[in-house]
Amino acid sequence: MSLNILILGATSGIAQAVGRRYTREQASFFLVARDQVKLDMVAADLRGRGALAVHTFAADALDYAALDTMCATAWNALQTVDVALIAHGTLPDQDRTQVDLDYAIHEFRANGESAIAAMGLMARRFEEQGRGVLAVIGSVAGDRGRGSNYLYGAAKAALDAYASGLRARMFKAGVHVLTIKPGFVATPMTANLDLPARLTAQPERVAEDIVRAVARRKDVLYTPGFWRLIMTVIKLVPNAIFKRSNL
Ligand SMILES: NC(=O)c1ccc[n+]([C@@H]2O[C@H](COP(=O)([O-])OP(=O)(O)OC[C@H]3O[C@@H](n4cnc5c(N)ncnc54)[C@H](OP(=O)(O)O)[C@@H]3O)[C@@H](O)[C@H]2O)c1
Repeated sequence: MSLNILILGATSGIAQAVGRRYTREQASFFLVARDQVKLDMVAADLRGRGALAVHTFAADALDYAALDTMCATAWNALQTVDVALIAHGTLPDQDRTQVDLDYAIHEFRANGESAIAAMGLMARRFEEQGRGVLAVIGSVAGDRGRGSNYLYGAAKAALDAYASGLRARMFKAGVHVLTIKPGFVATPMTANLDLPARLTAQPERVAEDIVRAVARRKDVLYTPGFWRLIMTVIKLVPNAIFKRSNL
């Protein structure tokens, strides 16, 4: 059976790995990103790997009118969407968010509000078709606000809560909602960070986990899986200790 896959933020490191992974199955793609040149490169790569069809659509995730048009175009092109993945995001400069309110709000919108807008728009289409999986990439950072990146964490927490409620609504319509919570992943987003090698996954590993979680209709995926344990412990640390730590 072939799969129809819609990816928003299709040029992201993780999304590209997911796309490549799906070419092992019979898959058609509708790829959305804001940079048409990068989109064309990703589309050519997937075609070269045997994708049945690849459509592209250039849109900024913060342009909600464009997202609405994108959904109409995607459903028109694919007819049915089996899997939608919302994968765009930025890693804000936390120090700058503390002194530049416009920047902070923009980054909150880029990581939280725009993903919520996309989920809301796609949910209506999924509800009409009565099946499919709507997957969104949050982050372990959304599980607890940390002093070093709480603007990003707050946006991902908003997305997490929205996806949880949407999951309950969509379940009754036969549609599945998956929240993906990666830990550290080696992508352009983290290329300038000094991440601990043992805790940093390759995007291919994360993509494998995502494809499996979609197939198994998992509700929440921590990827790699050991992050579930790490975040359980981090959430248990009392505030009196947490606020003094550099966790
Ligand atoms: N890497 C990690 O350690 C990590 C950990 C946890 C969660 N995540 C999440 O995983 C997802 C994928 O990230 P990644 O690691 O694969 O990062 P990435 O390679 O840096 O990709 C980020 C993507 O988001 C796109 N984007 C940013 N703002 C956008 C906007 N307003 N409209 C449309 N596209 C926009 C970028 O497009 P351009 O190329 O046009 O800039 C880029 O394709 C993100 O949601 C991220 O928060 C990543």
